[in-house]
Amino acid sequence: MSSIEIKDLRHTYYNPHTRQQVLALDGVNLTVGDGEFVTVVGPSGCGKSTLLYLIAGLVRPSSGEIRVDGRVVSGPGSDRGMVFQEIAILPWRTVRQNIAHGLEIQGVAREVRETIVKRYVDLCGLNGFEDKYPYELSGGMRQRVAVARTLASNPKVVLMDEPFAALDAQTRITLAQELHRISLATSPTIIFVTHNVEEALYLGDKVVIMSRRPGRVKSIVSVPVPRAKRTYEDVMGNPELEEIRQFIFNAIREEVMGSVSDDGEVRSFDEVQGDSSKGRRRWWQILLHRTILSALGVAIVAGGYAVKGALDAPKKLDPDVLAAVRRGEPVRVVVHFQFPVEDFHIRYLQSYGTVGAVTSHEIQLQRVMPQQLLKLAGHYWVERVESDRGG
Ligand SMILES: Nc1ncnc2c1ncn2[C@@H]1O[C@H](COP(=O)(O)OP(=O)(O)OP(=O)(O)O)[C@@H](O)[C@H]1O
Ligand SMILES: [Mg+2]
Repeated sequence: MSSIEIKDLRHTYYNPHTRQQVLALDGVNLTVGDGEFVTVVGPSGCGKSTLLYLIAGLVRPSSGEIRVDGRVVSGPGSDRGMVFQEIAILPWRTVRQNIAHGLEIQGVAREVRETIVKRYVDLCGLNGFEDKYPYELSGGMRQRVAVARTLASNPKVVLMDEPFAALDAQTRITLAQELHRISLATSPTIIFVTHNVEEALYLGDKVVIMSRRPGRVKSIVSVPVPRAKRTYEDVMGNPELEEIRQFIFNAIREEVMGSVSDDGEVRSFDEVQGDSSKGRRRWWQILLHRTILSALGVAIVAGGYAVKGALDAPKKLDPDVLAAVRRGEPVRVVVHFQFPVEDFHIRYLQSYGTVGAVTSHEIQLQRVMPQQLLKLAGHYWVERVESDRGG
């Protein structure tokens, strides 16, 4: 468990092709308590994924600060695990091997690893599929593997970016129910991004509503029913929550429509309830609004991230390269991405070495030191390792 403090966070992306800057987040302030489950909603493109990348340490903020357990985030760490908007499990590993991957990187002993994997196979309903490969699974099962794989490495903070977005409505509810149960059993601190207001209300201790881009925290709603006492059906039928649901829909709609009176203040549900009940909407308006939201959910901005891969280093290395690695000499590598390379990947990989050629799916890195190589290979799919003595 872990607390998170976000202060005056601002992030600007720079697109080297168009030479344009995009201010994604500006003035984000948020505190998440130890073991709290916070859900985040907001219009598409408002910076929700960016916020998670920043907390994960995959992207550096332009200004402001994020602290996890009082320590400033300066890069990725095993205390924070992320489930990405696009499913990111390793296609060449079985379910069991995928779930064990984080534990292998942490150097957890095999027997302990097996016990933990078994626990998460049970918790995530993957029994009987342990030795299957991702291509043999349904989308819902693959997403369960992604969740199990993140939770199994026991991060203090779990960052989940629309993990159930691509699933049908029923599977989505089932997985939300499983996550609800698992989170109560394991109590990590969770930040969960979703476009689905019901999901946000069912899962969260509080719901954070973000403004349109540049994103900031517009409003925070505490869900009055304790998480341990909730069932999905109760949340759907609870009149007290119906008010809150309408408040959240309204707040997002204001942002989508751009008709908000923007005083920069974070206002709570109670504060705004007066004016929100004035504009009680009819069922057809809610329906229309839900349709808009689902359409927005489909418009996913590629937050592409590398398939996490492991180089079976150093045993597969060419003997000359291996000798160079043993001597502590730098190497040259190619990092392969399953998705198109994005600006932030380039910036992030700069911490491992000097960035050379960049193609749509590959980044060449020079002067990578051996220790960095092992770390890099733990997170990314590393290919073509060569000695780089000449620099
Ligand atoms: N690598 C990038 N380079 C330039 N701009 C980017 C990059 N990644 C995101 N953006 C821009 O930053 C803004 C925030 O993007 P982000 O993906 O965080 O939004 P989001 O709230 O997660 O959206 P969605 O709900 O559609 O997933 C968007 O305007 C997006 O176009
Ligand atoms: Mg996103």
